[in-house]
Amino acid sequence: MSELRFDGRVALVTGAGGGLGREHALLLASRGAAVMVNDLGSPTMGGQEHDPSPAEAVVEQIRVAGGTAAANSDSVATRGGADSMVADTLKEFGQLDIVINNAGIIGNRTFLNINEYEFEPVIDVHVKGCFFVSRPAYEHMKSVGYGRIVNTSSGSGLFGSFGQSAYAAAKAAIYGFTRTLAIEGSRYGIHVNAIAPGALTRMTGDVLGDDGDIANATGLTGEDLIMQLGPQQVAPAVAYLAHESCLLNGETLSASGGRVGRAFMGVTKGIYEEDLSLESVARRIDEICNEDDYVVPDNVDQEMQLLLEHLHTGDT
Ligand code: NAI
Repeated sequence: MSELRFDGRVALVTGAGGGLGREHALLLASRGAAVMVNDLGSPTMGGQEHDPSPAEAVVEQIRVAGGTAAANSDSVATRGGADSMVADTLKEFGQLDIVINNAGIIGNRTFLNINEYEFEPVIDVHVKGCFFVSRPAYEHMKSVGYGRIVNTSSGSGLFGSFGQSAYAAAKAAIYGFTRTLAIEGSRYGIHVNAIAPGALTRMTGDVLGDDGDIANATGLTGEDLIMQLGPQQVAPAVAYLAHESCLLNGETLSASGGRVGRAFMGVTKGIYEEDLSLESVARRIDEICNEDDYVVPDNVDQEMQLLLEHLHTGDT
């Protein structure tokens, strides 16, 4: 297969001053994209601190390697910040083809220990951040009939994670956001997909503490651990979703350590009863939950088809 390249494309990568975002930006730039490297320079748990130097350092790295990049340190969590980073990209490079919504913060508190002041910033950065950045970018993409948006979800949101009620709520919201933008955007040539990554970064370090558990589970230590579980093992899946040859739309790829899979929402065939009762749900709960022949609907209308099939066939 010939090398997949991004010559002539312009990408905005949020939260690209470190971790996963930096690797996404470096890979896209190394394959010919001009990259707007956004990063607020925020601590892992969020807060008021603001430091433009991480984004600037990544831009320098790209330029030294012969690539094209510019830095932006606005926050994705405000409409003004997001509008400004999209406007900066258009001003600097004249177009915007790819958005990687990657910026993120995390908390680490069990449900009874988290309050609204800790819950809300996580929603602001992840959910509102995706909304604020995607909106002006999508308008531009619609006007030119082409775009690729890659959002960042998480296994924590898709499958649940102890101590992460805010983060999981935000990341699950991004799954639904991705599905719906994909449905709406396809008529404009805009494909919207998501990544559910796993990588050793500042974020995992701050949440997990030292890497001892991972080292024990994988049998890897030091450089080998970073080589195997570093963010560079996720970036190729993100770059693929950002490429014009990628026909996926509304999908979520789960990627870590070199493994890439598809994460999806399915529904079991379930049961049908004309006069459903509480007792029949209780009696048939194993059938309801049976995953044989489960379905992965493309949209909510297809989910509704399951009922219509039952109604037409009378199948119980
Ligand atoms: P990281 O902490 O290394 O990088 C996140 C970056 O986002 C930081 O450079 C930070 O300054 C920036 N940022 C935070 N708030 C911002 C804002 N309001 N506006 C602009 N930039 C902002 O974390 P990591 O691990 O690289 O995470 C990247 C994304 O991947 C996040 O969305 C995270 O939730 C997600 N993720 C990471 C996983 C992992 O295993 N590392 C697992 C699942 C999801």
